[in-house]
Parts: sequence; structure tokens; C-alpha cells
Amino acid sequence: MHVKGEYCMYIRPKGLKYTRFLRRLHRRHIFDWYLEVGCRTGTTIAPSRSKTIAVDPFFKIETNVIGQKPALHVIQDTSDAFFGTGFLGAIQARLSFSFLDGMHLFEYLLRDFMNAEAASRREGVIALHDCCPSSLGMTTRNLDNIPKGEWTGDVWKLIPILQEFRPDLTIKVLDCAPTGLVLVSGLDPENLALKQNYDAIVERYRDLSIEEYGLGNFYDRMSFVDAQDYCDDGFPDFAPLALPEETMVIPTRITP
Ligand SMILES: C[S@@+](CC[C@H](N)C(=O)[O-])C[C@H]1O[C@@H](n2cnc3c(N)ncnc32)[C@H](O)[C@@H]1O
Repeated sequence: MHVKGEYCMYIRPKGLKYTRFLRRLHRRHIFDWYLEVGCRTGTTIAPSRSKTIAVDPFFKIETNVIGQKPALHVIQDTSDAFFGTGFLGAIQARLSFSFLDGMHLFEYLLRDFMNAEAASRREGVIALHDCCPSSLGMTTRNLDNIPKGEWTGDVWKLIPILQEFRPDLTIKVLDCAPTGLVLVSGLDPENLALKQNYDAIVERYRDLSIEEYGLGNFYDRMSFVDAQDYCDDGFPDFAPLALPEETMVIPTRITP
């Protein structure tokens, strides 16, 4: 456990694996609209039973991603291009839950967060993946030299950025293995603070390594929430999104 102000080393999140957490969440809740940015094989889209929008410039689907979904929109493009099309507005989708796991450079995740929040319900939740690196090597921004194993890039920066520029948000850092899962709630789709400060934020953070920022500084400002306990407590931040069973649209199998 990290004690505030103490010299510290990297903390590797060792709680429930993020894929298990997401499976349990989708088993518990059907959302109005679920958005996933960065899907690759489809492992994390598959358990959703909600109307789903999946965005990735390079899909490599290896599983049944349709499952029980009433609708699945698959957009094979970058998230910036996707949000730029105005697709969400055109289909009048207000997002209940978004899982952002696309390009692992912080300015991309910051834009994904800004765009997803602007299209979210106020009671919605946005999950950010890979914000808790456990070595300096996995935080590299060098796209020509990405480590073979886990690569978080520098999306850890989203935690201090949101803490500073959006103190109105509720930020919980779950100890999901292997690189954490940040849940952001208390969303405000009209809030322009990130947009107005975007250039200054990118300028300030782009060349800053996590060790220059200070590991103590990083961990002092947050505390890990036990992901298993969070599930057992009934996913508290998602409670306002629960749809009553009778309004759920689950397609039934039609047999001749
Ligand atoms: C770590 S993988 C996602 C894995 C998946 N969510 C899972 O947990 O199994 C990251 C994905 O982000 C995608 N990606 C890269 N650049 C992107 C961008 N600009 N917009 C959206 N997705 C992007 C990659 O193609 C890759 O499939």
C-alpha cells in the first residue's frame, strides 16, 4: 500500500482482470447506448447486451460480437474521424457507458474523453483503460518502438489532467489487472473546460515522463478501489443507468 508523501515505486494493479470486470458489468446492466473505442479482436464488445457502437481503424474480430445486442454499429476508422462525422447526433444516441481503449497517446484519449462526454447522458459513466503503468518502458510515446508486452503509452496523464481541470468529475481508479481501469462519472456534456485548455494541456504534458512528474505525486493524488468489492457492491456509479427489466429489448431466437 502507498502511504502519502512516501518515496514510492510503481504499483502494479492486481485486482480483478479488466475483461472480467467488463463481463460482470454487462451481465448486470443493459445500457441505452454503449460506445467502445479501440476494440481489436472484439473481446470487450462481445459481452455487451446493449445497443453498441464499436470504433477501431483496424478490427481483427475473432469472436461472436453480436451476441444478444439489439443493434451493433461497427465503424472501421479512427475515433477522431468517427466523432467528426456527427454519427452520434444523427442517430440521436446519448451514451450511457463508454469504454475508451484506442490510441494510447494522452492527447488522443483526452479528445476521446471530450467527445464521448459531450455525447453522454449526465448520469453516464466513461471508463479509461491503461492509465496505471507499472514501468517506465510501457509508457513510451515512441510508436516505432512499442514494447512487445503491455503498452500503456502515456494515458496515465488523464488522471492528473482530469483532477486539475475537471474537479467536478468523480474519478475512481479501480485496481483492475493489469493496468487499472478509471471510472469517470458526474459527467457534464456542456462543460468546455477541457476544450478551452486543450492546447495548453498538450503543451504542458506532451514531453513529461511519469518519473519527471513524480511517482509519489501520481499515487498521492489517487487511491485504488478494489474492483472485486466494487462489483460486489452492485457497480454503484452505474445504478442511475439501470433500465427496468420490462423495457429491455432482448431479441429472442426465431425458430421455424
Ligand atoms: C489495446 S487495443 C484494444 C483492445 C480491446 N479493447 C481489448 O481490451 O481487448 C487498442 C486498439 O486501439 C485501436 N486504435 C489505434 N488508434 C486508434 C484511433 N486513432 N482511434 C481508435 N482506435 C484506435 C487499435 O487498432 C487497437 O485495436
